[in-house]
Amino acid sequence: MSEPNWTNQTLWTGDNIDVMRGMNSESVDLVYLDPPFNSNRDYAAPIGSEAAGAAFKDTWTLDDLDVAWHGEVAEREPALASVIEAAGFSHGGPMRAYLIMMSVRLLEMKRIVKPNGSIYLHCDSTAGHYLKMTMDAIFGQAQFRNDIIWRRQPAKGLATRNMPTDHDLLLRYAMSDRATYNTQYVPHDPEYVRKSYRHVEEGSGRRYRLDNLVNPNKNRPNLTYEFLGVSRVWRWTRERMEQAYERGLVVQTAPGRVPQQKRYLDESRGRPIDTLWYDIPPVQGSSKERTGYPTQKPLALLERVIAASSNPGDIVFDPFCGCATACVAAEKLERQWVGIDISPKAAELVRTRLQRELGMFYTGVHRTDAPQRTDLGDLPPYGAPSNRQLLYGAQEGRCNGCLTWFPFRNMTIDHIVPRSRGGTDHIDNLQLLCGACNSTKGTGTQEELIARLQAQGIRN
Ligand SMILES: C[S@@+](CC[C@H](N)C(=O)[O-])C[C@H]1O[C@@H](n2cnc3c(N)ncnc32)[C@H](O)[C@@H]1O
Repeated sequence: MSEPNWTNQTLWTGDNIDVMRGMNSESVDLVYLDPPFNSNRDYAAPIGSEAAGAAFKDTWTLDDLDVAWHGEVAEREPALASVIEAAGFSHGGPMRAYLIMMSVRLLEMKRIVKPNGSIYLHCDSTAGHYLKMTMDAIFGQAQFRNDIIWRRQPAKGLATRNMPTDHDLLLRYAMSDRATYNTQYVPHDPEYVRKSYRHVEEGSGRRYRLDNLVNPNKNRPNLTYEFLGVSRVWRWTRERMEQAYERGLVVQTAPGRVPQQKRYLDESRGRPIDTLWYDIPPVQGSSKERTGYPTQKPLALLERVIAASSNPGDIVFDPFCGCATACVAAEKLERQWVGIDISPKAAELVRTRLQRELGMFYTGVHRTDAPQRTDLGDLPPYGAPSNRQLLYGAQEGRCNGCLTWFPFRNMTIDHIVPRSRGGTDHIDNLQLLCGACNSTKGTGTQEELIARLQAQGIRN
């Protein structure tokens, strides 16, 4: 693990790939990211709202495909490249472009999160299932913990053709079994309370339920004794049982009946949360926390994520922080935090929100420069992309002969005009061919290769 090369409460304005590439490895405890969802929409804050001026695009086309990134992913992560190719094949080129954009960033997050850290990716069903495969390829399937359904809003209106979609998905990964997990609780369902806590104590009026005191393990001689005329293997020692009885916490409803433990409703922490989060409403128009920032998430949602997967003092990182909801929630829960957003509005809004929602003056740092890693010695973090990477991206992983997709390692560099015929080493004269097409071409021209492939019925 390394020390962070930034200070607590730093908010960057910039493209997160540039900032993350300068952040030290293994330096944050929890990553929460709420990136564009590939929703095929562009977002802008309403004029007159606090966030007016904030806008971001969430439409992806092949023009967004950075060829160097594509090549880099293909070379460094062949399994991931195959997932992306499959997604592009079934969903289309824009999904491929979107997943490449996400992959290069997720690879950086994997490097930045500590070995015992966690990551939550917030998405929806547009790309969620492709993102799950992408995350599995990057973080490892064994690191996957939960897909959490957050019901953003009850479905509105009468849907006649489709079931209305009313939830987002949060994919939770833990870097190891030692990652922090603090169980969170929600109030019991009223129906459950009515059925389970059906006794009311005379005098105090406290609701309680009766719980089993019998030990499921029959082979416990030291816990086997007679109590109130009933012989059983009990969960407690005789001494503890007698003390609880004296305090009125053990009840025998009739002579000869098995004694039970009294459990009060007001001492229950509630129901441990599961993966269906139905109790957190979206940010309402009239809500105090509303900034008007497009796709703003509720503070309560971020508080739950942060409380579950970090401890006070830990570092929370949100690389797509929008109007800084995760930063405000982290501050509220006494965590350290760092955020990045490409929109300059984020830096403005974090200041306003910390003041308004927590009554505190922001003393953090707003940066626009990419940090310099201090955990690398003299090594530059990344070299310039190689010709092979650039060509792989430009050809979208397809051989320029048979037009079939191949993993990066199966591609060979070919001189379009062979060097024996005066061709140069300039990238304009280079292409990637699969091994079979390269040997078919030999020292021939590209036209000769295509003619041979057509004659063999491999190409139209
Ligand atoms: C879904 S919103 C995040 C909303 C945020 N969770 C909140 O509660 O306000 C996605 C954010 O990603 C930002 N974004 C998109 N591409 C980015 C990039 N390359 N680097 C940094 N931020 C980016 C957008 O400006 C937008 O604010």
